[in-house]
Amino acid sequence: MSTPYGRFDDPRREYVVTRPDTPLPWLNYLGQDDLFGLCTNTAGGYTFWRDAKLRRLTRYRYNNAPYDLGGRYLYVRDGETVWNPGWKPTKTPLDRYECRHGLGYTQIVGSKDGVEVELLFFVPPGENVEVWRTTVRNRGGRPKDLTLFSFVEFCFYEALNDMSNFQRTYSIGEVEVEGSAVYHTTEFRERRDHYTLFACTREIAGFDTSRDAFVGVHNGLHEAGVPFAGAATGSIAHGWNPIGSHQVDLHLEPGASETFAFFLAYVEQGEQPKFERPGVLDKSHGRAILERYREPGAVDGAFAALQSWWAGILSAFEVDCPDEDAQRMANTWNQYQCLVTFNLSRSASFYESGIGRGMGFRDSNQDILGFVHLVPERARQRILDLAATQLADGTCYHQYQPLTKQGNADIGGDFYDDHLWLVLSTCAYVKETGDTSILREPVGYTDTPGSGEDLLHHLETSIAYTLSHLGEHDLPLIGHADWNDCLNLNCFSTEPNESFQTAGDVEGSRAESVMIAGLFLSACRDLAGLYRHLGSGADADRLDGAYDDMLAAVEEHAWDGAWYLRAFDAAGTPVGSSACEEGQIFIESQGWCVLGGAGRGNGRARRALESVHERLATEHGILLHQPAFTRYHPELGEITSYPPGYKENAGIFCHNNTWVHLGWCLLGDGDRALEYYRSICPSTRSDVETYRAEPYVYAQMIAGRDAATPGEAKNSWLTGTAAWTFVTLAQGILGIKPEYAGLRIDPCIPKGWRSYSVTRRFRGVTYEITVSNPDGVCTGVRSLTVDGAPVVGNVVPPSEGDDTVVVDVVLGGDLR
Ligand code: BGC
Ligand code: NOJ
Repeated sequence: MSTPYGRFDDPRREYVVTRPDTPLPWLNYLGQDDLFGLCTNTAGGYTFWRDAKLRRLTRYRYNNAPYDLGGRYLYVRDGETVWNPGWKPTKTPLDRYECRHGLGYTQIVGSKDGVEVELLFFVPPGENVEVWRTTVRNRGGRPKDLTLFSFVEFCFYEALNDMSNFQRTYSIGEVEVEGSAVYHTTEFRERRDHYTLFACTREIAGFDTSRDAFVGVHNGLHEAGVPFAGAATGSIAHGWNPIGSHQVDLHLEPGASETFAFFLAYVEQGEQPKFERPGVLDKSHGRAILERYREPGAVDGAFAALQSWWAGILSAFEVDCPDEDAQRMANTWNQYQCLVTFNLSRSASFYESGIGRGMGFRDSNQDILGFVHLVPERARQRILDLAATQLADGTCYHQYQPLTKQGNADIGGDFYDDHLWLVLSTCAYVKETGDTSILREPVGYTDTPGSGEDLLHHLETSIAYTLSHLGEHDLPLIGHADWNDCLNLNCFSTEPNESFQTAGDVEGSRAESVMIAGLFLSACRDLAGLYRHLGSGADADRLDGAYDDMLAAVEEHAWDGAWYLRAFDAAGTPVGSSACEEGQIFIESQGWCVLGGAGRGNGRARRALESVHERLATEHGILLHQPAFTRYHPELGEITSYPPGYKENAGIFCHNNTWVHLGWCLLGDGDRALEYYRSICPSTRSDVETYRAEPYVYAQMIAGRDAATPGEAKNSWLTGTAAWTFVTLAQGILGIKPEYAGLRIDPCIPKGWRSYSVTRRFRGVTYEITVSNPDGVCTGVRSLTVDGAPVVGNVVPPSEGDDTVVVDVVLGGDLR
């Protein structure tokens, strides 16, 4: 979809932003290992190493105007005119502007008065270096004498302290300058073993390291003093706010160009002595990086390495199908977003400050479903890290810090869905990889030092926790909340300064969640399957029994007549019932009950999803509930605190839409599944002024029909929608489902699709799968051949020995 603001360039896997004044800053991420950067289409954003809270390298001022102010800025001075290739911060009108967001890189080109400046920002694989490749071209007819000024503002690593404790921070800032390198050394003199380096591979004509000197005490970045005056001051920061800036003077004849690079590196001193002489940093690591990047071809080689890294990763899954948007999202943007959520969970975006939530327990477990096929080794480690934040009683820290891997005590635990997602992620990992050794990894519980119970023990503890915390309808207790963080049935908060989510006492609480019941059904079924795969029939039977009991409770107590209830509140009153005044029907329990297998034989599954269609589906996606809450209900909590139509109060929460999409796949309606899939797919949208967020990644929320701004998206990038939409398309619609025994082929496509093909890497082998649909059906495999040989059933067994396996599937039968 092409709009006034940009278009997709599918062959290059790029989104091309064609004007800088997008409806909101449109963000991309740099980095894939440890060093990460947020980078908008005007070069705004910041950089950190591993942890946006504890190792922030450059600054971002929260809730700024504009939102993305502070960034990787290059000021170009040409005569009396000062401009930026990315438009901001000066916003001097450009003759031409283009920003290409690609996989792990952003390229911005700005031209003015015959001068073109191209900036390419990226982090090479395996390095702690953010490169800004800079090319300046004289495309005019006259020689040009140009002065460039680079700019970053350093953060003192601990981002919260950095933004709040000025009585200290204004006195501790330190830098050193050597040649074309600015070393940011704040706190290195005492407990830190690391520093930040901002250097230029080219000779420089001057530098600045003091913000007051470069920008000016009374100036904004758009009117920074030095670029407008035309000469660096050579300032050395003593306290206050250290920055890094280089002055580069260029003389370019018509048609001439020059390419060089700036780079920002995070350096750990390691074995090297800290100081070269008293008070002077030993710079040997920094010098070596600079030397390396000064080698001709080093920068281009690093960029080529980045491109081949991404091409390799994304070759794990590639589809060719009749729906252009689905194809583009699946092949590039959706998988890319899945990896970003893997790296960052919910920590750092323009909606997550990087000082708040870190890695979410339920979030990261769900994210695994979207990237386990891309980076199975990393998924394995993530599962073990997550499990290590579980407590011996089965509850889990709701979040943890990526740097320390320690649970966040402020929010604590007691969200009674959290532990069950660990079962889903682990089973997904084993289905994908066949690696059952993960189950025997010693993990231990975070509140029991020295304990070494294995991962399988954690899964059992998770199941046992739910079974021992059932309410009076034999449904799982909800604790502070379930997946819906804002459904706080034990909170009763009337005090503005307390947390909705953790205010109430969950000890001895009674409120029950139907959504957790559905999730529990899925977890039991997954784990029973795993036990069967391991040959532990008795354990599988035990879990089947738990499944049956929960299913009976759901069918007996949770059916409201045309849909499943959402919960029982602390007084035992149904939530999400036709008897309620507001909030009569909720999406989450319909999705999870159907996915858990409820309503199968009795028609309720279809009835529940039809009710969703009648009451919740809109052109922009499916609302979380209806009617919206128009007043605050202390017994329901934060959900009723939002104005109607936003966030959890009847917004379109894209994440949970996918469970309904998958529900329709289960019921076999591929037309509806794809129609719904497209309703929240960002690449389909032409109403970009309404939607506002990036057209290439999912947003957490789209304002619902009760809102003043229906169709407006917020909280893009770090959302579970990424993983779940990929699961919806790859497994639900295209029907390529990893199972313990192999790849099940179970498509649920629109009747109009005549054929499609998928290349899928699975356990080290590439499967080239072609599906044809001669009879125009949604589901049901008639025949399946593997390398030309017919296979009984619709599961492709894992291949041994072959690199590539060809699978031909014909629909029109009844195998599912
Ligand atoms: C938001 C939720 C989010 C939660 C995190 C709430 O204010 O509405 O979407 O999960 O905060 O604590
Ligand atoms: C966002 C949170 O990250 C996630 O954990 C939660 O499930 C949803 N909001 C719904 O409240």
